[in-house]
Amino acid sequence: MAFELLMVTSEAWPLAKTGGLGDAVGGLAKALRSGGAGVTILMPAWRGTQDQLAGMHRVTELPGLPGGPAELYAGYCPALGCRVLLLRNDALYDRDSLYVTPEGDEYDDNAVRFAALSMAAAYVAQGLPGVTVPAVVHAHDWHAALASVYMHQFGVQDIKTILTLHNVAFQGVYPMMPAEQLGLYPEYLTADGLEYWGKLNFLKAGLLYSDCITVVSHNYAREILTPRFGCGLESVLAARIDKMVAIPNGIDTMLWNAGRDTYLHGKTFTADRLENKVACKTALQKAYGLDADRGAFLLAMGSRLTEQKMVDVALQALPQALDAMPKLQVCILGQGERRAERELVQLAQRYPGRCGVYIGYSEARAHRLHAGADALLHGSRFEPFGLTPLYAMRYGTIPIASRVGGMVDTIVDPGLVAETNRLYRATGILFDGEAAEDMRSAIERAVTLRQRPLVWRTMQRNAMLAPMGWEQSAPLYSQLYQSLRPDVAPIEAVGPRLQPREVRRNLQRRNGRGRAASSLDAVVPAGTSVA
Ligand code: ADP
Ligand code: GLC
Repeated sequence: MAFELLMVTSEAWPLAKTGGLGDAVGGLAKALRSGGAGVTILMPAWRGTQDQLAGMHRVTELPGLPGGPAELYAGYCPALGCRVLLLRNDALYDRDSLYVTPEGDEYDDNAVRFAALSMAAAYVAQGLPGVTVPAVVHAHDWHAALASVYMHQFGVQDIKTILTLHNVAFQGVYPMMPAEQLGLYPEYLTADGLEYWGKLNFLKAGLLYSDCITVVSHNYAREILTPRFGCGLESVLAARIDKMVAIPNGIDTMLWNAGRDTYLHGKTFTADRLENKVACKTALQKAYGLDADRGAFLLAMGSRLTEQKMVDVALQALPQALDAMPKLQVCILGQGERRAERELVQLAQRYPGRCGVYIGYSEARAHRLHAGADALLHGSRFEPFGLTPLYAMRYGTIPIASRVGGMVDTIVDPGLVAETNRLYRATGILFDGEAAEDMRSAIERAVTLRQRPLVWRTMQRNAMLAPMGWEQSAPLYSQLYQSLRPDVAPIEAVGPRLQPREVRRNLQRRNGRGRAASSLDAVVPAGTSVA
């Protein structure tokens, strides 16, 4: 019997994605499947999702869910190689976007929409005809955080629960409502459950009821224990530290692969043969209406346009940088806060031929952005992991990123004077602070480094060859699942046998040695010469 796992999530690429959550869940599911685990993803039947699945069929009705009766459909996702359960209630999920109205406001029934998803997971764990009972229920972010609470209410004990924190800033906080609207007994709406400062807090309840909590990077796991990054949950997290494990994300290195990327129209390249990267740059300049100047420093930005991503700071820093550096060009792919979108379009109008903006998102555009740019600007006030800089690195595009969250673990800065020993490992630029000046001077540092071709080339090579695939992290999840359910036949071993490290142990190690060791360390082969 295979080790059966139920992933409960709002997003899983390619079925649904608004950000890195979708990439991370899809990538992990795929990696676990190829390692021999039985994986089922449970997610809402978003508009169009069922069209991407094979063998769709109705499994059962779930009558007692918040928001009204729903139906459970099952299918198979060929891209991920796993089963998918879709929770169908069109009144809740068949909408233009996943979380927000066209005006950008949260749907006012989000509490009910995601409570229903979590309760459906508890029904699956309890046992439904025609549905495999999982050994472990693995919930992702606040949307699925109540799964462990409903399982507790249903009296499901042998099936263990994991809650993965992809972003503690989003907690699912809502005004208090009668317990029956969420299908919960009133005792779950107290300070021992969902209640937090007089409101409902989905993430907090998930932290209390899950058997294990995982965090998507080592550094973020430490950060969220502080008021600055814990977003009000730091004391709840501290109280649960013995249940916390940091397991860094990976990326899908087959999809994000400069050597075989079909979005590049044949202009693929590798760490040793970068000629076609120039062709990708020319194509990107053309697509964004920029001057066809090979010698320009092409800086890309590709992210949700939100405060998290410091878009407000970029709006001040970029014009300063464009004014100060005549060879700088900027291209921006993004979508998010309406005001930021408008102001970025205005910025492009101020710098014709030097700044281009595309409001929106598509995978094809994201791949071409990373392939064609010289550097990626990725400011973040907080960044639990940060997949985007790793995508850029895979294409030899140097990240210029905030020194926060997972990026501290995954990006190696050459240091202010770029000493030779650090250059052997350097993959990008990290900057501190949230002022325009901090960002602008980091851009300047990158432009200066690029004037040393051998240094830049070494950084590109390091970045492209850094090991960052799921084969590093999926085995850690496998081991965690098995440690929670030693009674179930183990998942076939894939990749190296590594021990999941507890946050507490990491803290001790970090205190002793300064920077935490990263799987991305030491990526330049010995003997590589650097100027
Ligand atoms: P976050 O999850 O905080 O947005 P990550 O860098 O970890 O940050 O992941 C971002 C992912 O979302 C990348 O795959 C990126 O290409 C994608 N992305 C960026 N902007 C959008 C958008 N507006 N809609 C959908 N996906 C986006
Ligand atoms: C979140 C975080 C991001 C992380 C992603 C996947 O959206 O903001 O940093 O990479 O989840 O875990």
